[in-house]
Amino acid sequence: MPESKDKYYVTTPIYYVNDKPHLGHTYTTIACDVLARFKRLDGYDVKFLTGTDEHGLKVKQSAEKAGISPQEFTDQVSQNFRDLCGLMNFSNDDFIRTTEERHIKACQHLWKVLEERGEIYLDKYAGWYAVRDEAYYQEDELREGPDGKKIAPSGAEVEWMEEESYFFRLSSWQDKLLEFYESHPDFCLPETRFNEVKSFVRSGLKDLSVSRTTFDWGVPVPGNDKHVMYVWIDALTNYITAAGYGVDHEMGGYWPADLHMVGKDILRFHAVYWPAFLMAAGIQPPKRVFAHGWWLIEGEKMSKSIGNVIAPADLIERYGVDATRYFVLREVPFGNDGDFVHANAVNRINNDLANGLGNLAQRTLSFIYKNCEGKIPAPAELTENDTALLAKVYDEMLPTVRRELDQQRFHKALDAIWEVVNASNVYIDIEAPWALKKTDTVRMGTVLYVLCEAIRCLSIIVQPVMPESGKALLDLFILPEEKRCFQSISRDAALKGGEGIPQPQGVFPRLQLEEKAA
Ligand code: MSP
Repeated sequence: MPESKDKYYVTTPIYYVNDKPHLGHTYTTIACDVLARFKRLDGYDVKFLTGTDEHGLKVKQSAEKAGISPQEFTDQVSQNFRDLCGLMNFSNDDFIRTTEERHIKACQHLWKVLEERGEIYLDKYAGWYAVRDEAYYQEDELREGPDGKKIAPSGAEVEWMEEESYFFRLSSWQDKLLEFYESHPDFCLPETRFNEVKSFVRSGLKDLSVSRTTFDWGVPVPGNDKHVMYVWIDALTNYITAAGYGVDHEMGGYWPADLHMVGKDILRFHAVYWPAFLMAAGIQPPKRVFAHGWWLIEGEKMSKSIGNVIAPADLIERYGVDATRYFVLREVPFGNDGDFVHANAVNRINNDLANGLGNLAQRTLSFIYKNCEGKIPAPAELTENDTALLAKVYDEMLPTVRRELDQQRFHKALDAIWEVVNASNVYIDIEAPWALKKTDTVRMGTVLYVLCEAIRCLSIIVQPVMPESGKALLDLFILPEEKRCFQSISRDAALKGGEGIPQPQGVFPRLQLEEKAA
């Protein structure tokens, strides 16, 4: 019997359907896709989930504005997010919509469990509510807007609401949450955000209103049709719905999830409410929540309401899918905010991809194609310089990248890969195979062999970030599928020499300066 693989479950937030996908949404999913692909190549049984968050007053109002039913509206807009998966080459294993039957059942199941355990009770609620954020705010959190209206810290307008509501006993989970954080020091990253979460919990938790009676576009509360569930309890439940909660007791072996990737704006929901709901229902919290930063345009968060969004389709047209994926993860330390500047994208893509990895592969392989009868030379004795480069390639690169990605430090992981790209480019310049051609063809062959090994392993390891370019590079070595996973980043899987190569084609086009955006 084949050995059973370790499981890895990674999720994106489910996206609100009142918006078309923009770079902000795409960024979160790119990061998850890279992790999913990385873990698959590293031998894991991966489940990668994304989807859409389709209930709530905001969606109902958007549908009314569009003059169609909420269901028609969500069908249309959800499709935009599904299309984005194809457009950006995402490898999600599932796409969940909160309007699906499986999800409604899972939510109602969770609700009943919470109710049976005495974690939910019926009462009255009055407070300042922001429809845009689907959240209540405290009086002291609000400021006055120009027209005298009250404004939440997020910039959304709030209104006074009074309703009968079910409450979740969040207040009774304060100590247990703090204990959980204490015993899971890696639960939330980056650390500074975890500290914010802890101090929020330490400052005291109030019971949380978890149902609404003012609209009906939501999951009906079991046994009380006047109420629909608060969108956040509905939305968060998607992560267990997709694992089979309520249907499969084992949740396919995928729970607890390894990682919920979220933007910093929704960390509190994932790092406070969600583990509390889960613990209250007797389910383990996820292993990690990572809160990444925002893409800003001239210092402002990208959002439809401000009208400053960058559409993924524009980026693809300008830079291509892979270069876009590379740029967003390489440019800004993951966790920080970053300003999107097209000129930086052009420079980064030209330097790292066209001049860096692309040029390394192109000049090595076309030299072999022209001067070695299209066959990778077999190595003779290795020098210190050869073994030093190969040690980086075989022994250092993958463990470093693994370590960095396990902490979601994408920029550091890419740094580690590009350190090998740069070392290989330095190596080729020092060893100068074009000069050896005239003086020592045996040594020339060894140098070219060492370079091919570096390029082969680099091509394998860039696949999660740039799936198509990685494939195109590996095609230059005519490597069979089973030699394209991380196990092959090793001496054991090394080329022997004598393998034929096709005429090499450039993989990373250089961008022209005029392609810099206004
Ligand atoms: N529906 C909720 C999430 C529920 S998860 C159980 C939601 N949706 S959202 O569509 O408004 O945002 C989803 C995510 O998109 C944010 O958490 C964030 O990850 C990402 N981004 C939206 N705008 C962004 C930027 N400008 N920059 C980076 N990411 C941002 O919140």
